[in-house]
Amino acid sequence: MNPAAPSGGVSGSVSAAAQTAAHPALQVIAVCNRKGGAGKTTTAVNLAAEMAALGWRVLLLDLDSQGHCAVGLGVKVQAREPTAHAIFSNPQASLLDAVRDTAFAGLALAPADQLFEHGSGLRDELLLARALAEPAFAERFDLVIVDTPPSLDVLLLNALSAAHWVLVPFVPHPLSFEGVRQLMRVLFKVMSKQNPGLKLLGFLPMMSADHIRQHRSTTGDMARQFGAPRVLAGIRNDIKLAEAFALGQPTRNYAPSSRGAQDYAALALCLSQLLTP
Ligand SMILES: Nc1ncnc2c1ncn2[C@@H]1O[C@H](COP(=O)(O)OP(=O)(O)OP(=O)(O)O)[C@@H](O)[C@H]1O
Ligand SMILES: [Mg+2]
Repeated sequence: MNPAAPSGGVSGSVSAAAQTAAHPALQVIAVCNRKGGAGKTTTAVNLAAEMAALGWRVLLLDLDSQGHCAVGLGVKVQAREPTAHAIFSNPQASLLDAVRDTAFAGLALAPADQLFEHGSGLRDELLLARALAEPAFAERFDLVIVDTPPSLDVLLLNALSAAHWVLVPFVPHPLSFEGVRQLMRVLFKVMSKQNPGLKLLGFLPMMSADHIRQHRSTTGDMARQFGAPRVLAGIRNDIKLAEAFALGQPTRNYAPSSRGAQDYAALALCLSQLLTP
């Protein structure tokens, strides 16, 4: 689970056809951290793009009403267009209606509703799990990546209840450590109740830099507390990630040879192998 230091280009060496053929039924990854600015959306968008480039048919599902996934993929969402949030306010809504293609091959988006008020809506924690159980999702996609809001609310519980895997990006400094501990308490509750099959994919150090003592010590603390294999090779600090986002492109498209693109390509390869039985 702990990939080697990032290396190589972004094209990936895995045959797309072979990868797709080997895929089991739909898998769902929830990208979570209750702390704001931890790199959840950057990771959701770039990992989705890299997995699509490896041949996975990917749906990026945005549960954060900030709506940043659409921004990161250059998608404009018009008022009254269907969104992923509809299922949380309207029991008749279909999640499929919110799914749209993007400019990036193999990557679809279910955008967020920027008018959705977190804390409002139906209190059911299994709405998303039920929506994704609709057979059309497994027919159209191999992988759903869910970007979540920085909160411990019913939307996060929905994401965790619908997911097979949880990926936790974190910025390696001491305050993050406490945020991750709080998230883990929620995770264990969901594992013991709504979703016993939920597994931790790993903790992903963001903006990591080995020469910074605080980064080394926080990542070391995480490894001691949760187990070294659970701490993934990190995503290095790279302004290209922010630039790509502002231009509405995954970093692999905007700056293919950048550190950010290389690190996400390495992460996708690692996770692709882990998710393929
Ligand atoms: N590895 C990185 N190098 C440089 N900048 C980064 C990196 N990762 C994330 N950022 C920047 O950090 C900021 C926060 O990232 P992001 O929006 O992905 O966090 P988030 O966890 O989704 O935030 P929120 O909780 O508000 O949804 C963004 O401006 C992003 O461009
Ligand atoms: Mg975000």
